[in-house]
Amino acid sequence: MPDSKTSICCIGAGYVGGPTMAMIANKCPDIEVHVVDINQTRIDAWNSDVLPIYEPGLQEIVAEARGRNLKFSTNVDQAIRESNMIFISVNTPTKTFGVGAGRAANLEYIEKCARQIASASEGHKIVVEKSTLPVRTAEAVKRILSTSSRNGATFDVLSNPEFLAEGTAIEDLLEPDRVLIGGESSQAIQKLVDVYARWVDRKRILTTNLWSSELSKLTANAFLAQRVSSINAISALCEVTGADVDEVAAAIGTDSRIGPKFLKASVGFGGSCFQKDILNLVYLCEHFGLNDVAAYWEQVVKMNDHQKSRFSRNIVKTMFNTVSGKRIAIWGFAFKKDTNDTRESAAIHVCRDLLREQAVINIFDPKVSDEQIRNDLRDVMINGSGELSATDRKLIEKNVHVASSKQSAASGAHAIAVLTEWDEFKTADFETIYDSMQKPAFLFDGRNILDHKKLAGLGFDVHAIGKRIEASIQA
Ligand code: UDX
Ligand code: ADP
Repeated sequence: MPDSKTSICCIGAGYVGGPTMAMIANKCPDIEVHVVDINQTRIDAWNSDVLPIYEPGLQEIVAEARGRNLKFSTNVDQAIRESNMIFISVNTPTKTFGVGAGRAANLEYIEKCARQIASASEGHKIVVEKSTLPVRTAEAVKRILSTSSRNGATFDVLSNPEFLAEGTAIEDLLEPDRVLIGGESSQAIQKLVDVYARWVDRKRILTTNLWSSELSKLTANAFLAQRVSSINAISALCEVTGADVDEVAAAIGTDSRIGPKFLKASVGFGGSCFQKDILNLVYLCEHFGLNDVAAYWEQVVKMNDHQKSRFSRNIVKTMFNTVSGKRIAIWGFAFKKDTNDTRESAAIHVCRDLLREQAVINIFDPKVSDEQIRNDLRDVMINGSGELSATDRKLIEKNVHVASSKQSAASGAHAIAVLTEWDEFKTADFETIYDSMQKPAFLFDGRNILDHKKLAGLGFDVHAIGKRIEASIQA
């Protein structure tokens, strides 16, 4: 039977901490779950009707548990004191400075958390690493906890990486393929197993040593990203040979050893995990002198960069080698559908390339805010130089428009580029949209979600990933 006295605190109310804790609170009504964050605005949003992250089904789960056994606050010390299980779910971005810049994970937030846990704790605590971390981070966390503790507190450290994907977080949390728990103390492991076993089949809860658990998370993401880069590499070959990448994917996906998932060619993968985790893996390999292994994995990221720039180059080439002053509708800015997250979104890179070609871009995304879009474009244009050049500032001010609908983004445009696979793009009224556009009306489907034949029939000049679309019949 689960220990009814378990009380949980989660440090970090982001895309991972928020939904995961909401699910635990939902499934374990007798366990107090306190989610804390240093960001007051984020916490206020978690306590309001407009949650800080968009995730289908999340609102309902939060509404059910909030006020009962789910609490959001900025009282980090209090939450640590009052709980016996502490999840660390803070961000671990790629380092932008010093040794390992551009590759290694920046562990400053993790370290701060560990120090705060050490100083606020009394008695025994189980500390659970939820954030994705380089292998052997638990070693550092354990040392900080044991050497910085002020009140004689003792600690067990567990690794419990989260495998949820954004956009399907609730489904993934409800029915995970597996829950992975790594640790040294079987008692501590059992306590966490008991939490998940409330709704997850015990056979799906895997327990390992700490290092296997930490490495499994990096490896899972590296393998998934590798599949996307592999099919994207083949998409380039399809375009020159006349093969169709979706047909190739379907054909190879029927091989039970390969399987059908994660074979959708696209403008490139994004998200906060894939690139960061691979670079982390690369850094780790280099650290241990495994340079060929590092180069092997780094190629997955290089291929992804190639795919993104190949897409923007193709737009320019197709539109008579110039997009200067031309209006391009960008449909979708999030890194995938059903999320408002834009971290590492391919759209950011494509928009930057088009802006540098002096295109005028009309961006529409159903969930991403105007402010977020402009911030992302500013950041990518600064790209390490420290400040935005006057030219780039002007480009963002003058050439970026954020539209309130897909129709208004496309109205008067020379082209549409689909960069996120939102369902609403599939059902757009393309006849009316075609009429509202400049001619020839170009359409670049970076997600291969549209009916290309039909669109060509309407008169669009259609270009997709990894396939040749028959010449359009101009209206
Ligand atoms: C990923 C892992 O799937 C998840 O297990 C881990 O916990 C976090 O990282 P996430 O980044 O949220 O999840 O989304 P995912 O569905 O993996 O998609 C990542 C990127 O790959 C998206 O940009 C998506 O559009 C792209 N992708 C995915 C493709 O281009 N083609 C595919 O076939 C699959
Ligand atoms: P993820 O996608 O991994 O959940 P996010 O960036 O969405 O990452 O969320 C991480 C959260 O962790 C942020 O809201 C950030 O404010 C919070 N955070 C970072 N450091 C601390 C800290 N020391 N104490 C509390 N919260 C923190």
